[in-house]
Amino acid sequence: MKLLAGAPGWTTTADVIVIGSGVAGLTTALQIRASGLSVLLVTKAKIDEGSTKWAQGGIAAALGPGDTPEQHKKDTLIAGADLCDSQAVEVLVSEGPEAVRKLIARGAVFDKSETGEIALTREGGHLRNRILHAGGDATGAEISRALLAAVRSDTGIEVIENALALDVLKSATGRVCGVTLHVIGAGSKDGVGRGLARAVVIATGGLGQVYSQTTNPSVSTGDGVALALRAGAAIADVEFIQFHPTVLWRDAAAGGQQPLISEAVRGEGAFLVNDKGERFMVGKHPQADLAPRDVVAKAIFTQMKESHSPHVWLDATGIHDFVTRFPTIYASCIENGIDPTKQLIPVAPASHYASGGVKVDLHGRTTIDGLYACGETACTGAHGANRLASNSLLEGLVFGTRIAADIASGLPAQQEPIADASPAFLLRADVKLPLQLGMSQGAGVMRSDSSLTETAALLERLSHHTSDAPGLDTWEVSNLYLLAVAIVRSALAREESRGSHWRSDHLETRPEWRKRVIQHLDASGKWSTSFEEVK
Ligand code: FAD
Ligand code: SIN
Repeated sequence: MKLLAGAPGWTTTADVIVIGSGVAGLTTALQIRASGLSVLLVTKAKIDEGSTKWAQGGIAAALGPGDTPEQHKKDTLIAGADLCDSQAVEVLVSEGPEAVRKLIARGAVFDKSETGEIALTREGGHLRNRILHAGGDATGAEISRALLAAVRSDTGIEVIENALALDVLKSATGRVCGVTLHVIGAGSKDGVGRGLARAVVIATGGLGQVYSQTTNPSVSTGDGVALALRAGAAIADVEFIQFHPTVLWRDAAAGGQQPLISEAVRGEGAFLVNDKGERFMVGKHPQADLAPRDVVAKAIFTQMKESHSPHVWLDATGIHDFVTRFPTIYASCIENGIDPTKQLIPVAPASHYASGGVKVDLHGRTTIDGLYACGETACTGAHGANRLASNSLLEGLVFGTRIAADIASGLPAQQEPIADASPAFLLRADVKLPLQLGMSQGAGVMRSDSSLTETAALLERLSHHTSDAPGLDTWEVSNLYLLAVAIVRSALAREESRGSHWRSDHLETRPEWRKRVIQHLDASGKWSTSFEEVK
């Protein structure tokens, strides 16, 4: 199965193609260069677009006095609701500190305490202060700045902006040997073309745009997961969509990317209250307002249902240095008519992070030869059923480094692509809104067999709205559609509540469901589901 697109009109070649320019793609590209291979880095919009530059709270690593990778591992496993791959977590937490030191060596500047040490804060699910941050609440922007500067100064990395990856190219042996791209550019690389490479790394970020309200930017349409599915790769854990508890609530009609109020605000002392001014997290969990994200999101959702209110409130008025500690959040609150130093902030959960994605091993290898996945696109298993706060940037650093090491250990010669005779598919751009609304309604914070079945029926109806007009909008919506189907199928299969997957008809967590749901799409477009025991 492939996206409907014109025939490639140009060809370019590199040793490795990296798709995406967030923390995962940039880190992978830079690390690959250490082995002297050439890299083509393609990115759908401008190079700094993506979730990375929006990251607020920080990056987690056991760097503080008395902290250890073991303690970081423990917190990660607990947040992951018994579904983490323990080896992947081990890799993440034990290689994390070195990966962060390397990032600092590459030029990223983190905030310091009065004594000159790196300042560490706390977020939900962490039992210690272990979150490094930059510019107060502009951690992602600083990481992106530092990595982009390093990429720009490396002549062995060719960057093409406005280059949307469509589908992989495979050789007669079934190995991935390139990718089709659509470039909006000038000169020879314009329109649909072929990028040929000895390995391809997908680092296309998240899929928040599957839902009507999300913290994710507009480029987060799950393209990489959809591309991998069409290539025949396995995807895992996609039912575990993390809803961030505290997203600024503006009005019911607000759609697309919404401003985040970082968990670090609660880490610095803010707390949630309901319409009656009562603190509802106290007594609900030993960590109260700093419980893991799924616990807080569910409690907010319950409060909203009980009070028939579209939001709850965050009281941050006690944070004396709010303006300097959280300058980005302060500015977005003020822009929306709220002074967080004097007023309560209206907040509600919104889709934030995909804990699942393209199934990879500890070296970032997908189930298809020659194809790697890294960052939010990938499912290493490190996040289980609910990612621990600030473990995502870290995952991009750690696994990007591992992928580069695997690639450096040897790649076959460039192989020739063969023609892809599988059916082409494309949906109309106007499918997007009903799809997003349907997913928020039926496959959101709380799901049930009936809500998911209704959503599946909606998606089936939308699948008939086909298009013969290839373009950015129609490609993106076709990717969103595949992701929506995958999420609904996995959520329907998992008859229990666990982590960020909450079924109103199966409220209990069941030990027999300590397994991952794996989805496949065959060349004709037929889905299949299998299950895998958690390691
Ligand atoms: P991204 O940074 O999203 O990059 C994906 C790249 O792929 C982009 O360049 C995009 O344009 C490109 N792309 C997409 N599709 C295509 C295509 N078809 N062809 C070519 N290119 C494509 N995590 C933390 O650890 N700490 C935090 O404090 C934190 N705060 C967050 C705050 C917000 C508001 C958001 C949205 C997320 C936050 N996260 C945080 C999560 C974290 O930012 C992301 O998970 C992480 O940055 C993902 O990095 P990535 O490189 O995988 O993807
Ligand atoms: C936040 O700052 O609350 C987001 C952190 C994350 O998603 O890891």
